[in-house]
Amino acid sequence: MSVIALVGNKGGAGKTTLCINLASALLRRGSTLLLDADPQRSSIQWRDIAGRGDLVEVVDAVEDVQALVRQNRDNHNYLIIDCPPSAQSEQTRLALACSDIAVIPVLPSPLDLWASVHVEQELEWARSVNPDIRALLVVNQLEPRTRLSRLMHDALAEIALPVAKTAIRRRMAYRNAILQGRSVLDAGSAASDAAEEIKQLTEEVVKLS
Ligand SMILES: Nc1ncnc2c1ncn2[C@@H]1O[C@H](COP(=O)(O)OP(=O)(O)O)[C@@H](O)[C@H]1O
Ligand SMILES: [Mg+2]
Repeated sequence: MSVIALVGNKGGAGKTTLCINLASALLRRGSTLLLDADPQRSSIQWRDIAGRGDLVEVVDAVEDVQALVRQNRDNHNYLIIDCPPSAQSEQTRLALACSDIAVIPVLPSPLDLWASVHVEQELEWARSVNPDIRALLVVNQLEPRTRLSRLMHDALAEIALPVAKTAIRRRMAYRNAILQGRSVLDAGSAASDAAEEIKQLTEEVVKLS
């Protein structure tokens, strides 16, 4: 049983996108529930568009994420929590206090990297109540041929958190899948490269648990 929180200190880093796609990949490994703890409730909106019965279930966890983790941890293999875009928000703190793994998407941009320093601080706080929490930074929306993306490697070395070997590229497939109420894993051949990198990232996350 693993509790995985998608956290970060900026909107738009890809928490919801990775949460939905990781959840869909985890569902193929075992029973999985997505807890939406972000008051914007984007994961819930995605689930409403999807409507289908074979996708991961999403529950509203904005009011009491810890109670929902307690209620559901014994009857699922994976709980995955979508958090608000602030490391200091109540929901993020509560989620970090009861998670095994924090996945932190970060965009290849200086402003986003700087914002992740706050996540480092928040994780330090979380370790005082949850000493075993593991963290993984994931570069999202990578554009391999840009100078910024090349520089990202050095910049990440300055952050004292492990970085996933799998970087997630910027691909239309991620946006299209959300719009269609799907994950990239069930969006057909047009999304196969995205599906492959999500499977690789899932493997890395699961290894941490
Ligand atoms: N790898 C990606 N490639 C292309 N678009 C992406 C990717 N990741 C996220 N996006 C888009 O970026 C925007 C912000 O992503 P989102 O998951 O909502 O971030 P957050 O939940 O951290 O605020 C959305 O429009 C989403 O579709
Ligand atoms: Mg979001």
